[in-house]
Amino acid sequence: MRIALSTGGGDAPGLNAVIRAAVLTALGRGWEVLGVKRGFAGLLGEDDVVALTSDSVRGIAHQGGTILGTTNRGNPCKWPKRQPDGSYRDVDRSGEVIANARQMGIDAMIVIGGDGTLGICRELCDKGMHIVGVPKTIDNDVAGTVTTFGFDTAVNTALEAIDRLHTTAESHDRVMVIEVMGRHAGFIALHAGLAGTADVILVPEIPFEMGKVCEKINARAKAGRHFSIVVVAEGAASRGGEVGTMGPSMPGQERRVGGIASRIAHLIQESTGKETRSLVLGHIQRGGTPTGYDRLLATRFGGAAVRAVEQRKWGHMVALQSPHIVTIPIAEALREAKQVDPSHDVVQTARQIGISFGD
Ligand code: F6P
Repeated sequence: MRIALSTGGGDAPGLNAVIRAAVLTALGRGWEVLGVKRGFAGLLGEDDVVALTSDSVRGIAHQGGTILGTTNRGNPCKWPKRQPDGSYRDVDRSGEVIANARQMGIDAMIVIGGDGTLGICRELCDKGMHIVGVPKTIDNDVAGTVTTFGFDTAVNTALEAIDRLHTTAESHDRVMVIEVMGRHAGFIALHAGLAGTADVILVPEIPFEMGKVCEKINARAKAGRHFSIVVVAEGAASRGGEVGTMGPSMPGQERRVGGIASRIAHLIQESTGKETRSLVLGHIQRGGTPTGYDRLLATRFGGAAVRAVEQRKWGHMVALQSPHIVTIPIAEALREAKQVDPSHDVVQTARQIGISFGD
């Protein structure tokens, strides 16, 4: 048996722990393991395909990033091809991926990625490839799994930032607005905001009104609390408003969202008269050492993915359905996007201890 691993989409702490566990579990079965570099690029002659041995994965479980490299512009079914006039056109190179994998004697692949990458896996499986998926995203927005690895690390990174902002906000009687990742889902903002005792949490799932946000800040001031912490997910938007976008994205890439923190900081200062500062936590949330929880989950996913290959569960992904790791069809996980449920107990608890969602 010869299997190949690849990592696609934005990186997340824990990818290397998945790779290590999958490689060691597969080698233990006497299989051969290859690593496809930078998503599917290695299978398109745009990057390498390397042998993965126990030496290749030594000492990597605690490292952020991915030893295989990754990309969020690597969809082989919609590969952005530069035209002679400098523009880009999407071309379908999935046939090349399948042919090259066959030529390299790859019997099956384990592909680690978020909803975009899992969608590619489903398409390639429909075309006959043997793929098992492993869900990954710091945003925790893949359905069918209680959580994805990388999320816990990102929450803890955001939490540390919120804790630090608290002391400086309080010293200066300022409002601090911190923007965290979460294009479509506000899990990082919600969890880090609640754990970090934020005063206002803004998420894509609950449209906000600036008047309500300022009401909360003014009410705190009236009660003698002259500073406030606002945690906002990059994909949050005001009622009837648009999600903000940052500069142009690269060909083949989703639009980049963000910039909301500075916009609302400006409005808060204008409306409340309180000195307001903002910061964007950005890719710090994607880097660094995975937490123990993420390392363990990633390791369990890696081992389970190899067992799924053994059981020929093509088109399935591993998932946490506590307390077990199970496999579910990728199509099922992709049926709907996972988002914060506004009636969830985490939201209820946050509201009942006085946190405003600006609604
Ligand atoms: O991994 C998902 C995510 O963290 C989003 O929340 C964010 O918008 C995006 O990645 C940014 O990715 P990049 O800057 O790598 O394109």
